[in-house]
Amino acid sequence: MKIAILGAGAMGSLYGGFLAEGGNEVWLLDVWREHIDAINNNGLIIEGLSGHRIIKNIKATSNPFDIGIADLVIVFVKSTITDIVISQNLDIFDKNTIVLTLQNGLGNVEKINKLINKKNIIAGVTAHGATLISPGNIFHAGIGATNIGELNGGFSDRIRVISNIMNTAGLETTVSDNVIGLIWGKLLVNVGINALTAITKLKNGQLIDNAETEELLETAVNEAWNIVKAKGILLSYDNPIIYTKQVCKATAQNFSSMLQDITNCRKTEIDMINGAIVREGKKLGIETPVNITLTNLVKSIEKNY
Ligand code: PAF
Repeated sequence: MKIAILGAGAMGSLYGGFLAEGGNEVWLLDVWREHIDAINNNGLIIEGLSGHRIIKNIKATSNPFDIGIADLVIVFVKSTITDIVISQNLDIFDKNTIVLTLQNGLGNVEKINKLINKKNIIAGVTAHGATLISPGNIFHAGIGATNIGELNGGFSDRIRVISNIMNTAGLETTVSDNVIGLIWGKLLVNVGINALTAITKLKNGQLIDNAETEELLETAVNEAWNIVKAKGILLSYDNPIIYTKQVCKATAQNFSSMLQDITNCRKTEIDMINGAIVREGKKLGIETPVNITLTNLVKSIEKNY
């Protein structure tokens, strides 16, 4: 299968690397020149929990015309720029191209759908963690499952094919008929981990080694859980607080994506994560004081880069 990864940061590169190892034609599409050049010249280096290797059968480019039409586009860009990036790379899509978003945060499907027919969009979540070490070199810092699904539920042939491709490539993947539950399930994990790690500069695992950050994690997730309950969303696990702590353990050595953003003075996904909880809380009349605090603190850090 010809697969284009839109956004070759740590996670995009990780998935691209696995899928190339699985025998697919994989293109990484990104604007970061040094990363593109390093991969094309030396291969993609993955180190960490899944082992050290150099993947040579992967191509990287900034130019959508190099790729042509892809069978599958996996979107991994920051949720802040989803619609802009899709609009700049429309040449890799045709009426049969399937678009899979595995991004963090709320609102990505809606942004993709501004330009791509909804019937071509599928969505999912990932519990892997990865960190960019240097151009062309990433660290696989947390191993977890990938869950994907059709927006309208249902177990279509195409979702099974994509799930098989991922599993064959070593990315443990399951299909769900509850994409909204998946997206909110991942959102609550990001609500508990991302802003707190970005502010404290702790690794994911350290959040639950400190009573103070552990309490803040619990309260932030609990506020978001109240919203999930009010909206009647069915999560794919029982208790978001316990689950978020499990993700902290499974990705203990990872610097969360938001901490990586802050470290590199990039705009974060705070508006689509804790900020989204604040907005939803306002609509429903549910108090979210810890999420307001986390959102405002991250925004103040961003403003003072
Ligand atoms: O955004 C992230 O960093 C990841 O979604 C997760 C699972 C929190 C691991 O770091």
